[in-house]
Amino acid sequence: MSCRSVAVIWICLLALLPGVASAGQAGTLRPPDVIFVPTQDTVAQGMLALAGVTKNDVVYDLGSGDGKIVIMAAQKFGARGVGVDINPERIKEANANAKAANVTDRVTFILGDIFDPALKISDASVVTLYLLPSLNEKLMPRLKAELRPGTRVVSNSFDMGPSWPAEKTQQVGTYTIYLWTIPAR
Ligand SMILES: C[S@@+](CC[C@H](N)C(=O)[O-])C[C@H]1O[C@@H](n2cnc3c(N)ncnc32)[C@H](O)[C@@H]1O
Repeated sequence: MSCRSVAVIWICLLALLPGVASAGQAGTLRPPDVIFVPTQDTVAQGMLALAGVTKNDVVYDLGSGDGKIVIMAAQKFGARGVGVDINPERIKEANANAKAANVTDRVTFILGDIFDPALKISDASVVTLYLLPSLNEKLMPRLKAELRPGTRVVSNSFDMGPSWPAEKTQQVGTYTIYLWTIPAR
């Protein structure tokens, strides 16, 4: 997997510099594992379409930033959504964006750490990710153990490593998006 777009290159570089990555983000539970870079609208739309999101879905964005993906899932796909972010500033922005988009009845934003075992994710029928390769791999056991079989997982730019190849990939402009389905246990 290569870091091709400018945004992705920034994420990769800043992830190597924890002091820089956490600068200016006072008030977090702990420093974020990756900085906030929003998914582009066309890519977010592509991710939700690749997962086949409908009004019957509950879409969780793990590391939800300004809430774009969850809000789009509600606005354009009629789904319900939950966003989780470790940075209170992002949660504040996401709630304001949900209000502006008139979807507060269908979306919820939770201030929390996606690696906290107390965070319940099993309600999700779709999970979206825009993290880092190492974070996807760290999250993988949790996704496989806690999500119901049939739950779809889509990731912007980063795969899950060789042990869990994506069942579909798609190109959206310069970005690659990946799809997995949680297997039966
Ligand atoms: C690259 S941004 C993606 C934002 C959004 N998902 C999107 O695609 O537009 C990653 C987000 O993950 C959040 N984050 C980083 N580490 C986290 C953690 N351990 N738990 C929850 N959120 C985290 C950051 O604060 C940031 O908003």
